[in-house]
Amino acid sequence: MAESVTHTHVVRRLYRPDLAMFRDHLVRLDADTRYNRFGLHVSDEYLGNYADLCFAPGSITYGYFEDGVIRGASELRMFPSKDLPYHKDAEAAFSVETPWRRRGIGAELMTHIVLAARNRSIGTLSIFCLRHNQAMLRLAKKFEADLKFEMSDVTGRLEARPPSAWSLWHEFVDNTLDLGSALIDYQGRVIHNAKQKIGFAS
Ligand SMILES: CC(C)(COP(=O)(O)OP(=O)(O)OC[C@H]1O[C@@H](n2cnc3c(N)ncnc32)[C@H](O)[C@@H]1OP(=O)(O)O)[C@@H](O)C(=O)NCCC(=O)NCCS
Repeated sequence: MAESVTHTHVVRRLYRPDLAMFRDHLVRLDADTRYNRFGLHVSDEYLGNYADLCFAPGSITYGYFEDGVIRGASELRMFPSKDLPYHKDAEAAFSVETPWRRRGIGAELMTHIVLAARNRSIGTLSIFCLRHNQAMLRLAKKFEADLKFEMSDVTGRLEARPPSAWSLWHEFVDNTLDLGSALIDYQGRVIHNAKQKIGFAS
C-alpha cells in the first residue's frame, strides 16, 4: 500500500535556540543564491558569523520550516535613520532554498517583514537586489501597496502608514505563539539528541 506523506510547514519568528538550524539553512544555499542574497561570493564561515548577527538586538528573523527544517528565511535589521532624528530605517533580506522556490514562501516571509517593519514605524526599508534578480523584483512588486520601490536603486520605501491596533495585536499574538513553538522545537531536539546518544531509537 502506498504510504501517505504529510508535510508540515509554518513560518515563524526565530529565536536563539534556532541559531544552529538557521545557520544550516544558510550553509545549504548554493553559490548563485548566496551571490543574489549577499551580492558577493561568501564562504560557509562568513555565513556562520552572519547567522549570529541575525539574533543581535535590532534584528528580527523569520524562518519557513518544512518538516522541522528551515528552508527559507528573512531578516530585518534596524538602525537609526540618517535623515530623520529619532526615526529608524531597516534592511531586509530573503533566502529560499532552490528546490522550495516559487511556492509562495518568499511572499509569506515578506508579509511578516512588512508587518514587523510597520509596527516599528520603520521609514525606509531597503532590500539589496541585483538588477537581474527577477525573482526579488517580482516579489517586491507583489507588495507595491506597502512598498514604494525605485527599481533602479532597489530601495523600498515603506509607506508611512502608522501601526494600527490590529497590526500590533497581530504581531504580538504571532510572537507569543512563535516563542512557544521555538521552545517546544528546542525541547524536541534536545530529547532527540539525548535518545541518539544513549542509542534509543524512536
Ligand atoms: C527572491 C526569493 C526569496 C523569492 O522566493 P520564492 O519563494 O521563490 O518567492 P514566491 O514563490 O513567493 O514568488 C514571489 C513572486 O516572484 C515570482 N518569481 C519567483 N521566482 C521567479 C523567477 N526566477 N523569475 C521570475 N519571477 C519569479 C513568482 O512568480 C511570484 O510572483 P507572482 O505571484 O506574481 O507569480 C528567492 O528566489 C531567493 O531566495 N533568491 C535568492 C536570494 C535572493 O535573491 N534574495 C533577495 C535579495 S536579499
